[in-house]
Amino acid sequence: MANSNRSGDAESGNLILFFRRWLANPVQVGSIIPSSYALAQLIASHTQRGGDDFVLEIGAGTGAITRALIDAGLPQDRLILVELDPAMSAVLAERFPRLRVITGDATKLTDILPAEVRGRIATVVSGLPMVGRPLDFQQSIVDACFAVLRSGGAILQYTYSPVSPLPRKRLGLTGKLMGWAANNLPPAAVWRFTRAEASA
Ligand SMILES: C[S@@+](CC[C@H](N)C(=O)[O-])C[C@H]1O[C@@H](n2cnc3c(N)ncnc32)[C@H](O)[C@@H]1O
Repeated sequence: MANSNRSGDAESGNLILFFRRWLANPVQVGSIIPSSYALAQLIASHTQRGGDDFVLEIGAGTGAITRALIDAGLPQDRLILVELDPAMSAVLAERFPRLRVITGDATKLTDILPAEVRGRIATVVSGLPMVGRPLDFQQSIVDACFAVLRSGGAILQYTYSPVSPLPRKRLGLTGKLMGWAANNLPPAAVWRFTRAEASA
């Protein structure tokens, strides 16, 4: 009982933190509440990895998707989190003490990721707000991801938009809609992006 009170308190604390960080920086945070477990499970079900590959989650927030990735069986030493907001990354480090949590900017992945991980990432799971952002921001995120993904690797990006969250042609991407999570506020779609030439 005491334990469930504690986890309930932590969850409310995360909701309040998320809302506060959105108030402080709505463009960067992009949502007033964390993703639902239903959306997180949909993302986890499309997250590919094999052997010694890693999964990288960028814009991990307070760990809503992280939780589902671990619950789906992803070994914790194969999952790396990047989060720009120091208050949120402090929550991640406390909530997931066995994960590598990097406080940093996902446009600079080649600088902030450990050398042994670069080029060995099978999937980048992105919670970054992308819709309506400048093309050069979208380009720098996409380039940073493909610079650290292994050959054939992919970006999984969720969106509240009814269409692709990234302009595929302009960014040289092939994108596929993987599914919808109606049970999210608002409902969200999951897209998988690869380099156009890699998926032909
Ligand atoms: C919509 S929230 C998603 C949080 C979490 N993944 C979820 O689904 O609940 C977007 C997150 O991306 C983070 N973020 C925004 N820009 C970033 C950047 N350039 N590098 C790393 N994280 C970033 C924000 O601080 C925020 O935590």
